[in-house]
Order: sequence, then C-alpha cells, then structure tokens
Amino acid sequence: GKPAKIAPSMLSSDFANLASEAQRMLDCGADWLHMDIMDGHFVPNLTIGAPVIKSLRKHTKAYLDCHLMVTNPLDYVEPLGDAGASGFTFHIEVTKENWQELVERIKSKGMRPGVSLRPGTPIEEVYPLIESANPVEMVLVMTVEPGFGGQKFMPEMMDKVRTLRKKYPSLDIEVDGGLGPSTIDMAASAGANCIVAGSSVFGSPKPAEVISAMRKAVDE
Ligand code: DX5
Ligand code: ZN
Repeated sequence: GKPAKIAPSMLSSDFANLASEAQRMLDCGADWLHMDIMDGHFVPNLTIGAPVIKSLRKHTKAYLDCHLMVTNPLDYVEPLGDAGASGFTFHIEVTKENWQELVERIKSKGMRPGVSLRPGTPIEEVYPLIESANPVEMVLVMTVEPGFGGQKFMPEMMDKVRTLRKKYPSLDIEVDGGLGPSTIDMAASAGANCIVAGSSVFGSPKPAEVISAMRKAVDE
C-alpha cells in the first residue's frame, strides 16, 4: 500500500516551546507535523493561525500538515501559503459551494490540498473532490469530533476508510483522533496511510517507539 506518513499533532505539544517540540518529534521519526488551526467558530476551541506557522517555518523544513477547522477556509489560503504551510486540509461541511475555487487557490499558493469530514458527514460527499479534474490529494477522515485532543477513537469511521481505499487505491487517506498503539491496527487494516496522533505520542515517555509501532502497522 501507500507508504506511512506519521504526523504527530502539535496540539498536544508545549506551545510555548513549539520549535523544540517540533524538532523533538522529527528526531523521533515523524514524517509530518500536523498543525490544528481552529477559529473558535467551526469548533469550540481556538488554537493557532498563520503567524505561528510562519514562526515555526523559520525553525524547520518539515512538511507542515495544516488541518483547517475554520468556517471560512478561503480567508486562510494566502496567509498560510505565505507563511510556509505545506498541506492545506479544509472541511467539506463549510465548502459545499466553493470547493473548486478553494482547491485552485491552495494549489496556486504551492500547497497540497486535502479535504476532511466530520464523523457525521457521509463519505460520498468527498467523491466529487477526488474525481474532479483539479482534485484534492488527500482525504482526512475524522475519527473524533474535531476540536480537542485526547478523545476516544470512533471505530465505526473505519467503514469510510475501507470504502475510500477500495474506490481509490492510490489516494492518501489520513485519520485523526484517538490514534495510538491500541487503535492503529484498525486504521491500518482499513487502509489509512497518514496517521495523526497527539496525546498517544506526546503522552508517552518514548514517543519514538510509538511512532515506529504505528509506522510498522501501516507498512506491513
Ligand atoms: C482534533 C484534532 C486532532 C487532535 C488529535 O480536533 O484535529 O488533530 O490533536 O489528538 P489525539 O491524537 O489526542 O486524539
Ligand atoms: Zn487535526
């Protein structure tokens, strides 16, 4: 299958030491750094935006996998592109009308477009974005309600992952929420290859072991 991308969620890091936390994760074998951008409106939590991505970018060349939990993602394309974001994953729930323009703008700013869906959103809603002439390059299947780290993995979301993998063998499929050594096998066998993990990685005394165990589950 597609090679694993293990993406620690920096939401669980010490935000006051973001650059060193990022480097620590890369030293532990992280492929990507997952950056949770929340606007206090699409979700009931407020985190970081383009200024923080811009600051972090000065300290690392890593792939910054930005997850936009915001009501108006279009407003973030230019600032995040200029800040040095690598991936730009927006939510389908707020872009039913203008996703084509959004995908075009993301690509024109040199970022990789992805689409995410909340647990209650049917998987069929993202098919047009994958099948478009100007497609998204990743689908992020949320395995918790977006907003907070440390929630319980929803195994019933694996039906979405299996359906997607069967239909699109070479698509990057990311899962986010409650992933760790005890849930990775469910996600890997369903066909997910990009794995976001916050509390399981940052809460471990040996994050490198957690990352390598998850990589092994995906790549085997
Ligand atoms: C939740 C975020 C996640 C979160 C995952 O809204 O999208 O990226 O940080 O944290 P864990 O791995 O602790 O569930
Ligand atoms: Zn996320």
